[in-house]
Amino acid sequence: DRSLKIAPSILAADFADFGREVQAVEAQGADWIHVDVMDGHFVPNLTFGPPMVKALRRHVTTVMDVHLMIAPVDPFIEAFAEAGADILTAHIEAGPHIHRTLQAIRAAGCRAGLALNPGTSVQLAAPLLDMCDLVCVMTVNPGFGGQSFIESQLDQIRTLREMIGDRPIHIEIDGGVDPGTAPRVVAAGADVLVAGSAVFKGGSVADPAPYGANIARI
Ligand code: DX5
Ligand code: ZN
Repeated sequence: DRSLKIAPSILAADFADFGREVQAVEAQGADWIHVDVMDGHFVPNLTFGPPMVKALRRHVTTVMDVHLMIAPVDPFIEAFAEAGADILTAHIEAGPHIHRTLQAIRAAGCRAGLALNPGTSVQLAAPLLDMCDLVCVMTVNPGFGGQSFIESQLDQIRTLREMIGDRPIHIEIDGGVDPGTAPRVVAAGADVLVAGSAVFKGGSVADPAPYGANIARI
């Protein structure tokens, strides 16, 4: 299904109210919920681990899309799968054994995602594509929300679209997606747009209407 999907990143939501934030954006039209896991080592920021993903699972009725910005990945796959992740996305830069990691994600019963940093050529994904349900092209350097979109990634998205052809593999874009950049990433071939600040700005669980307006504008 290559229809356009918006995946709000809860990195930009109220950390003390994730359950209601998730319910609010789903009610306002979110297609997936994107969960950013950071370890303070692979990226210079810390967020949360399997217990938080498990607690969120009760609130997510769509698809829980878990982006692992951690190294190593393999020791935690089972825990995130048991916590209820639908998709587990690992970075190609996170270790020497990404092929094994993607195998382990599928073996744990999750859909497998492969993420690439802006400094990594999408050509490196070629031998891995048939092990992937999703390829995530980072359009910022991972670690923080609210950064500006890296324009040169548009060429990489087009290249990846050609490499994938008709295979049922999602192209997800993560970082700096807003109403200005979204049409260009879609034209380049993306079908899943992660958006943190662009979705959550101006809204709250008390008044989630701006979330819906923000999602509609993207
Ligand atoms: C960045 C994260 C993103 C982040 C995007 O490391 O992977 O998912 O939340 O935030 P925005 O949409 O604000 O750039
Ligand atoms: Zn992310």
